[in-house]
Amino acid sequence: MDLTDSRGKPHLSGKVIAAAVILVICILALFQSSTNNAAMFSRHELGVTHVLVTGGAGYIGSHAALRLLKYSYRVTIVDNLSRGNLGAVKVLQKLYPEPGRLQFIYADLGDAKVVNKIFAENAFDAVMHFAAVAYVGESTLEPLRYYHNITSNTLVVLEAMAAHNVKTLIYSSTCATYGEPDKMPITEVTPQAPINPYGKAKKMAEDIIIDFSKTNDMAVMILRYFNVIGSDPDGRLGEAPRPELREHGRISGACFDAARGIIPGLKVRGTDYKTADGTCIRDYIDVTDLVDAHVKALAHAKRGKVGIYNVGTGKGRSVKEFVEACKKATGVDIKVEFLSRRPGDYAEVYSDPSKIYREMNWSAQFTDLEESLRIAWRWQKSHKNGYNG
Ligand SMILES: NC(=O)c1ccc[n+]([C@@H]2O[C@H](COP(=O)([O-])OP(=O)(O)OC[C@H]3O[C@@H](n4cnc5c(N)ncnc54)[C@H](O)[C@@H]3O)[C@@H](O)[C@H]2O)c1
Repeated sequence: MDLTDSRGKPHLSGKVIAAAVILVICILALFQSSTNNAAMFSRHELGVTHVLVTGGAGYIGSHAALRLLKYSYRVTIVDNLSRGNLGAVKVLQKLYPEPGRLQFIYADLGDAKVVNKIFAENAFDAVMHFAAVAYVGESTLEPLRYYHNITSNTLVVLEAMAAHNVKTLIYSSTCATYGEPDKMPITEVTPQAPINPYGKAKKMAEDIIIDFSKTNDMAVMILRYFNVIGSDPDGRLGEAPRPELREHGRISGACFDAARGIIPGLKVRGTDYKTADGTCIRDYIDVTDLVDAHVKALAHAKRGKVGIYNVGTGKGRSVKEFVEACKKATGVDIKVEFLSRRPGDYAEVYSDPSKIYREMNWSAQFTDLEESLRIAWRWQKSHKNGYNG
């Protein structure tokens, strides 16, 4: 008995010591790998371009981050998740788990101190600034929110870039900065006369960027997107706006909600515009094409130069045409209700995308509206609660 006990004790304490050693090694390894990981983001590395993607948990930003990761960029996403989805970030993290590929930082760009700290701790080579509130209708109801979130936050990002010597900026702008021009299609020299706070806030942000660029050798690309639709053709990401934003939502979201029966039908606002069928005309650009334009813009950005480009298909489609394409893509005979105009909307907007073709050899490849909607519908159907399942 004594013998067994006296043998058992050292054996047990040996096991405890071994377990403790293994635990310490694991903790050290974890600590080491997370420090290594952080170190990879904090240093410039030859041959690796580190891109800060603001708003990377959102619809367009997440698709852009996916493409950048696919093309071996190092990506840091900064998002306050006010409108984006952590689920989208998780998809990206699962696809690119290797150290030094992707990090997510939860932060608000309105907090200059925090933004400055992020720039101090990370070695960015370029910034793609997507983060913004982005609903025309909402902007007419909450203008101050839009000027703050879009214009003032862009200022914060620019100041941080200047303070930390980050020299390349790709800025997400919009056709809403043109307002309602007399002449179609819209070229980059069409005068900008925005008619709603969203467009005005973006135009002010553009002006700030352009003025600032005159004082240094920053490489700037301003991309003015038209109406973005579609989703990742491989079905990994989609568009999943917050349910509470439904009333301000974009037409594709409303169309899918109607097809799924979440809302009783589609509300088409305005049938008395001066267009062929009385409904608004828009230029719908697929997110895959838009992301291509960003990657090209990054490659073509030149020190001391500002490039301004329309990103659209060059073809206008009426809301009625869109609804028909949506019915075909979803296979659902969506109920349509015709209502009066929405404040801040304009009749007809479509791009002349010849400059971006000439200078960057970019043109839209996804020009079949129904096909873009079919791809997006596949994701919507398999993600009834967005990224929550
Ligand atoms: N979707 C379109 O049709 C369209 C058209 C033209 C331009 N744009 C521009 O493209 C950009 C992306 O739009 P989207 O459709 O992906 O919108 P989105 O709402 O899906 O994504 C925007 C992201 O920015 C984040 N964000 C907002 N404010 C923030 C803040 N203060 N700090 C940190 N993160 C913040 C949100 O949480 C969200 O993840 C915006 O700048 C928008 O103005 C979009």
